[in-house]
Amino acid sequence: MAPPECSLLILTVVLSTALVVGSSVVSGSRALVTPTASSSAKSSQLMSVEHELDAARAAIRRAARRHGDLARRGKGNASTASDWFDPGVEDALLASVYRNPAAFHRSYTEMEKRFKVYVYEEGEPPIVHAGPCKNIYTIEGRFIEQLELTVPDAVIGGVRTSDPAKAHAFFLPFSVTKMVQFAYVPNTYDKTPLREIVADYVRVVASRHPFWNRSAGADHFMLSCHDWGPEASRGHPELYANGIRALCNANTSEGFRPGKDVSIPEINLYDGDTPAQLLAPAGPAASRPVLAFFAGRRHGPVRDLLLRHWKGRDPEVFPVLEHGHGDDDELDYYAFMRRSRFCLCPSGFEVASPRVVEAVLAECVPVVVADGYALPFADVLRWEAFSVAVPVAEIPRLREVLERIPAPEVERLRMGVRLVKRHFMLHQPPERMDMFHMILHSVWLRRLNLRIMDH
Ligand SMILES: *[C@@H]1O[C@H](CO)[C@@H](O)[C@H](O)[C@H]1NC(C)=O
Ligand SMILES: *[C@@H]1O[C@H](CO)[C@@H](O)[C@H](O)[C@H]1NC(C)=O
Ligand SMILES: *[C@@H]1O[C@H](CO)[C@@H](O)[C@H](O)[C@H]1NC(C)=O
Repeated sequence: MAPPECSLLILTVVLSTALVVGSSVVSGSRALVTPTASSSAKSSQLMSVEHELDAARAAIRRAARRHGDLARRGKGNASTASDWFDPGVEDALLASVYRNPAAFHRSYTEMEKRFKVYVYEEGEPPIVHAGPCKNIYTIEGRFIEQLELTVPDAVIGGVRTSDPAKAHAFFLPFSVTKMVQFAYVPNTYDKTPLREIVADYVRVVASRHPFWNRSAGADHFMLSCHDWGPEASRGHPELYANGIRALCNANTSEGFRPGKDVSIPEINLYDGDTPAQLLAPAGPAASRPVLAFFAGRRHGPVRDLLLRHWKGRDPEVFPVLEHGHGDDDELDYYAFMRRSRFCLCPSGFEVASPRVVEAVLAECVPVVVADGYALPFADVLRWEAFSVAVPVAEIPRLREVLERIPAPEVERLRMGVRLVKRHFMLHQPPERMDMFHMILHSVWLRRLNLRIMDH
C-alpha cells in the first residue's frame, strides 16, 4: 500500500485571508423562486438532480421489497449481493450481517451510477483542502485528500463533478484537526476560533454560490474526526441544524443525529499506513487463548471504571492493561489482539475508539463499551452480528457477559467480523466498498433520506 499522498498538497501556512475575502453578495440566489430565463434552466437542472434521486429511491425500495418477499417465503438465496463475496460465504451470514443485503447492493450500485459530489474550491491549505494523514485523526485527512484527488467528471469512479448544477451533495473540505493545529491557542479550551473559521467558510461559499441558501445547507456535508468536530460545526447554525456532519465523535447525547449526520470510523495510523500485522491473515476463535484484551490510558470516566474493575486481575485470560502507545515497555498490541477472542473498545474522552477498526482488522470481536455511541455504517450493517455492545453500567459484569457467549456464537461473530473487514480498510487509491466509499455511501443515503430497514 502506498503511503498517503499528503505531500502532494502544498502546505502554505496562510489562514484567515483566503476565508474572509469575497463575501460580495451574488445576486440571483432567489432565482429558483422568481423565474427568469436563466433561472428556469437552473431549476430544470435541479429537477433532474431530484429526479435522479427519486429514481434511485424507487430502485432501492423495489430491491428491498423483492428481498423481503423472498426471505418471508423462506427462499433463502437471500441476496443478490452474493456475487460481491467469496463463493464460500453463506447466505445466512450475509443476511445476518447486513440489514438488507439486496437493498444495500442496490443503493451502492445506484451510488456508483449516479452520485455526484461538488467540492468547493474556496480556501487554502493547510486548513482547507488538506488534513491529517497520520495518527488518530487519519481518516479526516485521508477522506478530504482522496476526494480532492478524485478526477472530476471521470467516466469510471467519477463521484466528483466540476459542475455544481449536477451535484447531489456539496462538500466543505475543511479540516477541524488542522484548525486546532493552526488556530487554537493551546490550553485555553477556547473553541471560538474553530467556530469562527467554520462560520467564515460557510458564509463565503453561501455568498459566492446559490447552493447553500437553496437548501439552507441540507445537501452540504463536512467531515471531521477531531473530538471538537461537533463543536466546530456549531459555528454555523444552519450547518449544525441541517447539514450532514460526518463525525467520529458521534455521541447522540451531544447532538449527533443518526438520521441526518454520518458516523465515521476512527482509525489510528501512526505512520500513515495500516500496520502489516493487522493485514496478515488471522486465526479462528479456537486458536485464541485470550478471552478479552484491552490496553490503553486512563482517558475519561469509562476507561477509569474499566481499569478500576479489571486491571491486573487475570493477565493470562483477561488482560486489561494501563498502557499507552509509545510507553517505554514495549507491548505487542496487535499480537494481543490476534490472540484474543474479544477486544474491548471502551469510550475514551469521546465515544469513538480506534480499537474498533483495529479489532475488526485483527478479526477480534469488538466489544463496544460506550453509551450514546452511534456506530459507523449502521444503516447497512447489523453490528450485533459482529460485535458485542456492553453498556457502561455493566462494566463490573463484563467478564461474565463475555464468558456466557457460547463458543459457536463467538465463532459466528468472528465470521461476521471477517465479512465486514473490507468496509473498514483504507486503500490508496480507494477501492470498492472500502472505508472511503462506505462514508460516501452513508452521505448518499442521507441525501436520499432513505432508511434501509431490516428484512
Ligand atoms: C438465487 O441465486 C442464483 C444465483 O445467484 C440465481 O440464479 C437464482 O435465480 C436465485 N434464486 C432466487 C429464488 O432468487
Ligand atoms: C445567502 O444568504 C445570505 C444570508 O441571508 C446572504 O448574505 C447571501 O448573500 C446569500 N447568498 C446569495 C448567493 O445570494
Ligand atoms: C457524550 O455526551 C454527553 C453529553 O455531553 C457526555 O456527558 C458524555 O460524557 C459523552 N460521552 C463521552 C464518552 O464523551
